[in-house]
Amino acid sequence: MSDSAHARRSARRYHLHATSAVSAPRPRQASPDELAQDRLEVLLGPDDLRQGLERDALIGLSASPKWLPPKYFYDDRGSILFEQITRLPEYYQTRTEHAILTAHAADIAETSGAQVVLELGSGSSAKTRLLLDAFLATGRLSGYVPVDVSAGALRAAMTDLRRDYPGLALHGAVADFDRHLDELPAPGTRMVVFLGGTLGNHPPETRGEFLAALSAAMRPGETLLLGVDLVKDPDRLIAAYDDSAGVTAAFNRNVLAVLDRELGGDLDPSDFAHRAVWEPDREWIEMRLRAVRPVRARLEGLDLDLAFAEGEELRTEISAKFRREGITAELGAAGLTVEHWWTDDAEDFAVLLARR
Ligand code: SAH
Ligand code: TRP
Repeated sequence: MSDSAHARRSARRYHLHATSAVSAPRPRQASPDELAQDRLEVLLGPDDLRQGLERDALIGLSASPKWLPPKYFYDDRGSILFEQITRLPEYYQTRTEHAILTAHAADIAETSGAQVVLELGSGSSAKTRLLLDAFLATGRLSGYVPVDVSAGALRAAMTDLRRDYPGLALHGAVADFDRHLDELPAPGTRMVVFLGGTLGNHPPETRGEFLAALSAAMRPGETLLLGVDLVKDPDRLIAAYDDSAGVTAAFNRNVLAVLDRELGGDLDPSDFAHRAVWEPDREWIEMRLRAVRPVRARLEGLDLDLAFAEGEELRTEISAKFRREGITAELGAAGLTVEHWWTDDAEDFAVLLARR
């Protein structure tokens, strides 16, 4: 049995009808649709997340160089820190993508032809409101499906959406988009939304697999709205991932607090310095944590002793930057045809619509 098949089989599934969102007012209009009632589906329970962390930490922290997958940044504190990143003066991505969506949301809603907006890595769903407004204006929208690995961020977003969109059916899923794409709700023709440049957090070696799995989980005619950060002046890129207020540094170090809490570790975040490095050949930003002194630590939950030499680095994240031809070809290889490409005037960021 493959790893992912195993993970799928062992994943616990519960359907929760009662979330914090449920105490909010019911939708004004009853919808005959299955989305009429708020639902939060948990494909990835807290135990699954911890087991995944155990496995990934054992592999990544025993490797040379050491590395960790990025999904573990986003506990409650990490999700709040990320929201602060989106408002930093150096982090142009969020406000540029917001501007692109503001300018083109009506066009997107019209051309996608979807009835359901399903968002991967939805976080606070803040920018998505532009899309929901435009889709609601078409009169075709039957529901919104936010999907995130962070249960805390998802619940908070659904509570706010319920308050501000009383008539909209919400069907959230706590899920890992690396494992659960073919189990996500599909209560109508979907536009899959994947914003914030999060695709770039997949290493290029597995990005093709991710896109192939996504394409396979989509029905012919369904669309993908993808936000990607574009290659640009390295100084601006580095500043976006190493801000002067130190929020990104705190976000990066937060993954050490997650290791300590979940795996009984005794890592001291102050032993590590935040680093953001531009790799010109690969065209990605690499986030690292560098041991500022020799570090010995233990992860009791894994029975694992860790040693970092002074200056040794742990790779915590990459954020790949794209070019139009490259991402168009990658999507094409996965069976997704790019139909529209929108950018800001400076061509800092792009939002594209591709169809399966
Ligand atoms: N879409 C938002 C948030 C981007 S940050 C924006 O554009 O601002 C990345 C989001 O993806 C976080 O909310 C994080 O919790 C989520 N995420 C990261 N890895 C994930 C995974 N493997 N599966 C599902 N969600 C994931
Ligand atoms: N998807 C975001 C990006 O690649 C995630 C992100 C922003 C991030 N800043 C970060 C991840 C700092 C790790 C560290 O831009």
